[in-house]
Amino acid sequence: MSPAINGVGPAEALDYKSALEILQNEYPERDGIDVQTLVDSKLNGGLTYNDFLILPGYIGFPANEVNLETPVTKRISLKTPFLSSPMDTVTEHEMAIYIALLGGLGVIHHNCSPDEQAEMVRKVKRFENGFILDPVCIPPTMTVGEVKALRQKCGYGGFPVTESGSLNSKLIGIITNRDIQFHNKHDDTVTTVMSKDLVTARRGISLEDANDLVRSSKKGKLPIVDENGNLTALVSRSDLMKNLNYPLASKLPDSKQLISAAAIGTRPEDKIRLQKLVDAGLDIVILDSSQGNSMYQIEMIKFIKETYPGLDVIGGNVVTREQAAGLIAAGADGLRIGMGSGSACITQEVMAVGRPQAAAVFNVTSFAARFGVPCIADGGIQNVGHIVKGLALGASTVMMGGLLAGTTESPGESFVSREGQLVKAYRGMGSIDAMEDKKAAGGGKDSKASNAGTARYFSEGDRLLVAQGVSGSVLDRGSITKFVPYLMAGVQHSLQDIGCTSLTEMRGNVLEGKVRFELRTASAQLEGNVHGLHSYDKKLYS
Ligand code: IMP
Repeated sequence: MSPAINGVGPAEALDYKSALEILQNEYPERDGIDVQTLVDSKLNGGLTYNDFLILPGYIGFPANEVNLETPVTKRISLKTPFLSSPMDTVTEHEMAIYIALLGGLGVIHHNCSPDEQAEMVRKVKRFENGFILDPVCIPPTMTVGEVKALRQKCGYGGFPVTESGSLNSKLIGIITNRDIQFHNKHDDTVTTVMSKDLVTARRGISLEDANDLVRSSKKGKLPIVDENGNLTALVSRSDLMKNLNYPLASKLPDSKQLISAAAIGTRPEDKIRLQKLVDAGLDIVILDSSQGNSMYQIEMIKFIKETYPGLDVIGGNVVTREQAAGLIAAGADGLRIGMGSGSACITQEVMAVGRPQAAAVFNVTSFAARFGVPCIADGGIQNVGHIVKGLALGASTVMMGGLLAGTTESPGESFVSREGQLVKAYRGMGSIDAMEDKKAAGGGKDSKASNAGTARYFSEGDRLLVAQGVSGSVLDRGSITKFVPYLMAGVQHSLQDIGCTSLTEMRGNVLEGKVRFELRTASAQLEGNVHGLHSYDKKLYS
């Protein structure tokens, strides 16, 4: 009998080379538990993201080869699974543009007038990376004094001068800081000082060629004109560094334009709003309701599918199979899952209705997958790990509010909190603040009657508003042009650990029982977080 190796194991140690053989022959069940056992709520109670972990697999490929392409509707796929919430502190055109450039999708909120929302959709569709499509133009009659004042207001000093003073009118000159800086005759018109010696480029020029021309011409601005000399856009030297290539940008096949998505409610007047959004070029509409399984939403989905066959419609929110079935049968091209898990949400506390998010995601996605309907895991995402867990439980994409509200691209400015930290405002759409917002559609004096918040929570017309969300702030995070690539790299590394080369492979392997899970006790959750340190900095990426 051979001695125990290092005192461990049976006295007669097995040949180590047979480890894989023995694993295969004597352990028919993989280590850990399968997804069905994990989510079976009769055993475990409603599961949340923090209640479990995914067990590691085998790494046989580099992380940067992990493919994150994923469908957001039956017809449209994205290169990364990240969506920003239709909330008025999260997604307006700037967020929608930059998250789409990074391969995700921003859903423009509807707590604004239909015209304002349509204008934001138009900005997303018209966006061409590097080209300023709405430059501030001035008329030849403007005085030097007025230009100086305009410069103060805009914070920059180069303005194209056009015949009518607006875009799409004949370009006659350009006025720069240098032209007006030492010109003290404030009543002179700009024509006396503007440069007429212009280097221009014709509409249709590629960004690369335009950038080359900006460099070689040594001018600060390159006006882009049509065949009649009318100004259509501008390229600025100071933006050269920002004119990066975005290879993952979300575009439909054969289109140069970014994909645009926006939210609406299910009231009759939302049909008028939708027409404006469609005219502006909308690709995907999300029906924004905290409880999507309603006669209003089913009727709206049918109406949209009949009236706009080219428009994809995402229904929701849902958390059960039964809710999902109604919307799938009505024709939804995608579903949004989550009720009460949002970071600014008090729905579960106030309404006693909702579902822990991990349980909701698995139960809905496993049903919707049978009909090829992709699902969004919406709300409760606090870190990269939560994103991966939502995706492992069957979601095709994840939607984030609080995590993106602190970025530069969300609406509003950062401010210093009472504690001295740089923060940005973030509020639930069911908070009293958002529901009372006078900017709301058709707002006027009685805005309670019709705004996105009240509509989402079926509170329109109520004498007393019952809040389902809170209003607060989140830490400033800097630009999503850094944050989203961090999320992406984090998800790729996580899938590498799990041993899957793509989201599609992970979803398949979860359902086949090859990707395994482990429940976490309360003490396991403590163990899995930083513990025992006197103090620490939690810097997430650099
Ligand atoms: P977060 O990413 O955890 O902050 O959650 C964002 C999600 O919360 C949104 O996409 C909505 O589904 C949901 N939500 C937004 N406003 C409210 C609210 O006032 N009450 C409840 N849920 C909300």
